[in-house]
Amino acid sequence: MRVIECSSQDQAAELVAAEILAALRQKPGLVLGLATGSTPIGVYQRLIAAKRAGAADFSRVRTFNLDEYIGLPADHPQSYRHFMRAQLFDGIGLPRHHVHFPPTDGNDLPGACRAYEQAIKSAGGIDVQLLGIGSNGHIGFNEPTSSLASRTRVKTLTDKTLADNARFYGKGEAQPQLATTMGVGTILEARRILLQSFGTKKAEAIRQAVEGPVSSFWPASALQLHPDVTFFLDADSASLLTMREYYRRVRKNEIELGG
Ligand code: F6R
Repeated sequence: MRVIECSSQDQAAELVAAEILAALRQKPGLVLGLATGSTPIGVYQRLIAAKRAGAADFSRVRTFNLDEYIGLPADHPQSYRHFMRAQLFDGIGLPRHHVHFPPTDGNDLPGACRAYEQAIKSAGGIDVQLLGIGSNGHIGFNEPTSSLASRTRVKTLTDKTLADNARFYGKGEAQPQLATTMGVGTILEARRILLQSFGTKKAEAIRQAVEGPVSSFWPASALQLHPDVTFFLDADSASLLTMREYYRRVRKNEIELGG
């Protein structure tokens, strides 16, 4: 597990975007797992800038998003399909049929969730999975007590998550209580995982994820079981880590060795 304390959110976005662009150069048909929310926006802006500068070609990339709310139509401003179009897809010219979201309607949702898992497999699996983290340690919408072996399914959002995301909804506007999310088990199958976290609000979740016991009570702690995961943190999110100085020293050595 790599823990990189960045000098700013911009630097974190720069490093993550650089990793994705390097992976894309290696594999033009890259399969990306994507997150929404405020955390990945800086990365998406940099991917769009690379495309505009002619430095990246996303025409063969396929994407699988982590989660989507149940009950919001695709064109609803708070739907994750809308968010991704506005924040990334339109800017990088991704072919529409290369974009995948977890299912949120139909009369056989469990079957459609299994089909989503199958679609990931048929694409060859996720090469790079981008993650944020909830202040309660969720990844995707795998809320505390989610099975660490879980697959794509419907989850009920916790009060904490609803409160954290209330800022996106106007007064009196209905906020969805349910979402379909990739499972923790699904996420752990990605070949490489890049997690960003910013702000003091996430510091305890980061401490539990990086240094706590592996526990379904802090779902991000399951990432300790993954062989290739990197945490990109700002100083606030890193503030409760007990081995902070050690991670800084490891990073310094990595840079000196040309990493
Ligand atoms: C979103 C997702 C969530 C967010 C998390 C942090 O697709 O999977 O786990 O990454 O809730 O959200 P922000 O980035 O808004 O703090």
